[in-house]
Amino acid sequence: MGNRIITIDGPAGTGKSTVAKGIAERLGFIYLDTGALYRAAALKISSSQINPDNEEDCARVISTSTISICGDRTFIDGKDVSEEIRSSYISDLASRIATLQSVRKELISIQRSIALLSSIVAEGRDMGSVVFPDADVKFFLDAIDRERARRRYLELLDKGYNAEFKKVLTEIRRRDSRDKTRKISPLVIPKDAIVVDTTHLTREQVLSKLLEIIRLRLSD
Ligand code: DC
Repeated sequence: MGNRIITIDGPAGTGKSTVAKGIAERLGFIYLDTGALYRAAALKISSSQINPDNEEDCARVISTSTISICGDRTFIDGKDVSEEIRSSYISDLASRIATLQSVRKELISIQRSIALLSSIVAEGRDMGSVVFPDADVKFFLDAIDRERARRRYLELLDKGYNAEFKKVLTEIRRRDSRDKTRKISPLVIPKDAIVVDTTHLTREQVLSKLLEIIRLRLSD
């Protein structure tokens, strides 16, 4: 049996990360957080003090850096940046540089090379539509924006940030709009994806629902 690929796409705050991590743990697959790669690229671009709208400069900075992930830790040139990449500023910059084709090309090659090593659970915005169109099982998680903002707001408070709900909602809406309307690899429901609305579900309920579907699909 070759390596298996499970994809989970959807907007921010739908619970993709927790669920993808949980599935990877249960099945012994590698967890691939592709948003963390875009965030790491954004952090590198921000610290290189180049114009984030200059595609050529952005792609050059990324191709001359080593961005890697191991489980839920993210590294740039060997330095652990897992916490730094979670700020609101980097969330927004990641969504901006994710509109650039050369940036996506660099990061997609990292994503595909990880899938050659092992079975994976990959989460992001274009996993089932562009990066792994032949994935074994594809999911699309969704939830209403106020609920997604509420989750993100509580998460920020929990981490000790001084967050404001209204601001978090505005940021989520801005990011949704950019991720869904960009020309290259916009956030869409991939063909054959199973759509799960997580608005009224706990993370545990989403995890057991997805695991049940995966077990059925992989045993076929
Ligand atoms: O999943 P996340 O919120 O950590 O992702 C941060 C940004 O990265 C997101 O707003 C858009 C971009 N992204 C993308 O364009 N494609 C992916 N596969 C993953 C993330």
